[in-house]
Amino acid sequence: MPCRALPLSFSLFLLLLLLFLGSVRASGAESSPRLPAPKDVVVYSYNFRSMLRWSPVKVDKGLVLYTVLFKTGTFNQWDEVNCTRITQTECSLPWSLKQRRWTIFLRVRAELGQVTSDWVETDPFVAERDTTIGPPQVNSVNASSNSLLIRVTPPFGSEVGDLLQYHVSYWENATSTTKEETKTSNTLFKIDNLKESTLYCFRIQVGLMRYSDLQLLGLQSAPECHRTTISEATRNGYVILFLLVLTLVMLYLKDPSVPGLDALVNYVEDDPHDSLSVLFCGEESQACGSSLDGEGHSHSISSESEVT
Ligand SMILES: *[C@@H]1O[C@H](CO)[C@@H](O)[C@H](O)[C@H]1NC(C)=O
Ligand SMILES: *[C@@H]1O[C@H](CO)[C@@H](O)[C@H](O)[C@H]1NC(C)=O
Ligand SMILES: *[C@@H]1O[C@H](CO)[C@@H](O)[C@H](O)[C@H]1NC(C)=O
Repeated sequence: MPCRALPLSFSLFLLLLLLFLGSVRASGAESSPRLPAPKDVVVYSYNFRSMLRWSPVKVDKGLVLYTVLFKTGTFNQWDEVNCTRITQTECSLPWSLKQRRWTIFLRVRAELGQVTSDWVETDPFVAERDTTIGPPQVNSVNASSNSLLIRVTPPFGSEVGDLLQYHVSYWENATSTTKEETKTSNTLFKIDNLKESTLYCFRIQVGLMRYSDLQLLGLQSAPECHRTTISEATRNGYVILFLLVLTLVMLYLKDPSVPGLDALVNYVEDDPHDSLSVLFCGEESQACGSSLDGEGHSHSISSESEVT
């Protein structure tokens, strides 16, 4: 049936024609000078400020321009990000906090006049997963005898509903191996139960709680060291000890032959608790000197009996 054969051969002819044209186009594309695509295309993101960067495309003549497009995971259409035919090899991305849960795809190509390179597409970028959170800033540290009161500023302006945690690790400067850790959500917090007059060091990093109850951990701050102060009790102890020694020295200078003074000194060194009562006397002038003498005698006797 020629009527049916004719359309068949005609469609075959069309098919062949299409194939032929296609190959011509393909070979034409190969022979036309294409630009090499940008390389090392990477998204950098620090504290939710993000930037796309790439290596420049080198050509012998002319100025290479670059165009960046983006699309989101939910809306599958490439759009501009205000980096269209730019000369720089980086593009600041306009999103910061609000869109940090979006999945974003980016692509960049080089352009020279009408000639373009292929698009180079990034891996999907999610700021909340991929950004690097910097260390918090330590604003002030107030030391007391048993604590350090620390005030910090978060590394980025946080959104409503953010749950930021500060992970504080601290250690005695003398024993760097035993680190302790505490966590808090406050920007003003206290490290407690410290030893007095001791140099402590600490580092802080931010943990950002995500919906998926995973935590994005930030970089640690540089170690900072502060000495706890001396407690009132200890300072009083030192004052007492000083006054006592002073009293003894003066007594000795007045009359080096006061009997039992050596023994008293020994006694005080053995039992600093007793030095408290001695000082009590010391503060009440006259009566004190005599009672000190008396004590001195009795102790010299007891220490002699110990020796024998
Ligand atoms: C795009 O970039 C230009 C120049 O850098 C700037 O003036 C303009 O505000 C930007 N537009 C948007 C929507 O970011
Ligand atoms: C820390 O100490 C400074 C000065 O010693 C004082 O002005 C400041 O109020 C203190 N901060 C806190 C939180 O106590
Ligand atoms: C101890 O403190 C000094 C002075 O602040 C500091 O340089 C050093 O790194 C600290 N050592 C440890 C183990 O924390």
